[in-house]
Amino acid sequence: WPKDVGILALEVYFPAQYVDQTDLEKYNNVEAGKYTVGLGQTHMGFCSVQEDINSLCLTVVQRLMERTQLPWDSVGRLEVGTETIIDKSKAVKTVLMELFQDSGNTDIEGIDTTNACYGGTASLFNAANWMESSSWDGRYAMVVCGDIAVYPNGNARPTGGAGAVAMLIGPKAPLALEQGLRGTHMENVYDFYKPNLASEYPMVDGKLSIQCYFRALDRCYTSYRQKIQNQWKQAGNDRPFTLDDLQYMIFHTPFCKMVQKSLARLMFSDFLSASRDTPSSLYKGLEAFRGLKLEDTYNNKDLDKALLKASQDTFNKKTKASLYLSTHNGNMYTSSLYGCLASLLSSHSAQELAGSRIGAFSYGSGLAASFFSFRVSQDASPGSPLDKLVSSTSDLPKRLASRKCVSPEEFTEIMNQREQFYHKGKKRGGKREREGNSSQLIPVAGSQ
Ligand code: CAA
Repeated sequence: WPKDVGILALEVYFPAQYVDQTDLEKYNNVEAGKYTVGLGQTHMGFCSVQEDINSLCLTVVQRLMERTQLPWDSVGRLEVGTETIIDKSKAVKTVLMELFQDSGNTDIEGIDTTNACYGGTASLFNAANWMESSSWDGRYAMVVCGDIAVYPNGNARPTGGAGAVAMLIGPKAPLALEQGLRGTHMENVYDFYKPNLASEYPMVDGKLSIQCYFRALDRCYTSYRQKIQNQWKQAGNDRPFTLDDLQYMIFHTPFCKMVQKSLARLMFSDFLSASRDTPSSLYKGLEAFRGLKLEDTYNNKDLDKALLKASQDTFNKKTKASLYLSTHNGNMYTSSLYGCLASLLSSHSAQELAGSRIGAFSYGSGLAASFFSFRVSQDASPGSPLDKLVSSTSDLPKRLASRKCVSPEEFTEIMNQREQFYHKGKKRGGKREREGNSSQLIPVAGSQ
């Protein structure tokens, strides 16, 4: 089987305009700091009425192909993860074939995968599994994840965002998926879902969704930790795995404060499973919470406070840098986790990252979640695959800074227009035309 299957190259797309969260606090008449401090969000990107999921994905795939300079027939599998459904039957993947078929390449496996924000990770696993199976035909795979995260006026609206990420998957990758190390938790729950096909907005029980995310995180981490310890044991190493064994940790990011709490929970999980005789300055201030069970701690404010304090340095070292895009652009649903990966790469040098292990937690409401990890290659020399991958993300802050800031009034007006245009597509003369909504490649001028 091919070795070190993982991410060779990636491309990020986000909309050309954003609303400032401080302005939104004033406009929505909430206390100053609720969105910026309480949720940890500074800006929220959003799509114009001319954009839809097809245009986002077309753009990001086109750009990845331009960046890598690969021939269009070098891709043998194309997977799409999205929950932004605009057609109940036709996959976004089939729309992306528009880009490939001109080169004569129609021999491309893979289709859309949907379960809230988890579809991108399922697509990544599918692509890697294909490459490690007898079905592999020797070509690259591409994983595309993208979403438009919008909510009606109210508490959830400031946790919106939009974006897409395309990833080229192949062997000998600078970010290799670690084999046999996936901790997964799935269950049936209605924390966030989209039963209303005539609307872009989900039904969401915010508090329940937070609890479900934490429960999934606890279970996935416990199972990942068990699996890696088993692997180590077979290799003759009997020591326990802890957060210290992950040099970096990225999370699905509905809002940034949630991620800081999540990193803290991983530390708490290690603390509870560590022997009492293992003194560690890391767990300072946590002894009072020793008798608790993880599942009884979702609304424990005292514990939250103690954990945030104990994990602050670890958060700064392992996770904070990965939140750059999320802080400035908001939730990108399926592409959120991979936007965090891009942010992490953009804020480190190849030398800093070389040889490290990056932990990743993917969560999709409903629910499906996995904890897995990437091993970063050792070779960080100039021109190496790792060096190229890291350099390709370095312009992220500049690109974010070049977006247009739009007032909350204008943002609300655009949201109202999207509500009117949504699902008003008509079929005329055999060609699909959409009022104010494009399924064509959006020109570079209209996007970042
Ligand atoms: N200054 C500083 N902090 C303030 C503040 C102020 N003036 N006012 C409030 N806060 C703090 C609150 O104390 C709270 O922090 P803690 O939870 O740490 O105490 C935080 O700001 C948020 O305040 P509320 O809990 O009162 O917020 P809310 O109830 O109005 O809404 C929300 C928050 C539930 C997340 C809502 O935005 C929502 O429903 N969002 C969509 C659902 C979501 O994002 N869920 C996340 C998990 S599910 C998932 O991950 C899938 C996905 O992508 C959707």
